[in-house]
Amino acid sequence: MKIARVTLSDRATAGVYEDRSGPEIERVWAGHGGTAAEWVRILIPDDRAEIESTLRRLCDTERCDLVLTTGGTGPAPRDVTPEATRAVLDRELPGFGEIMRIQSFAKVPTAILSRATAGTRGRTLLINLPGNPRAIGECLPLLLPAIAEALRHLRGE
Ligand code: MTE
Repeated sequence: MKIARVTLSDRATAGVYEDRSGPEIERVWAGHGGTAAEWVRILIPDDRAEIESTLRRLCDTERCDLVLTTGGTGPAPRDVTPEATRAVLDRELPGFGEIMRIQSFAKVPTAILSRATAGTRGRTLLINLPGNPRAIGECLPLLLPAIAEALRHLRGE
């Protein structure tokens, strides 16, 4: 199982602050019984062209089973992760974003500001997560059963 975790952040890339969201993805994955994985770790700015080319490479060349992005899903002008993701998807799986927003809204009213989406490209499952490290722990565990099932479908099982 090969998983890429991709942090999209201008400021973390520039060293203004440390990327805590990327490592949090691995911590939450392992802490909730996620399958042992080979991790590809990426930190890039909120640049649409760079995000798209990175996502294509992770799917088509690196052949990752799963690509988890964090950040860039909000309403700020530089937040372009959902657009870049949609541009590379073969098929969208809107349920992942929907359930993150619905379940998180009960705890954090600002959860509806995330435009996160998900979908497939070839045999890779791509999912956007919000950028706040706390949001990873609030969202990723909800998705794990559907991720496991989607990966089985993508492998043709
Ligand atoms: N979802 C959860 N579970 N927890 C959060 O703290 N933050 C929200 C939202 N979703 C948040 C959340 C906020 S304030 C924003 S602006 C959006 O995610 C988008 O964040 P992003 O641009 O860093 O992806």
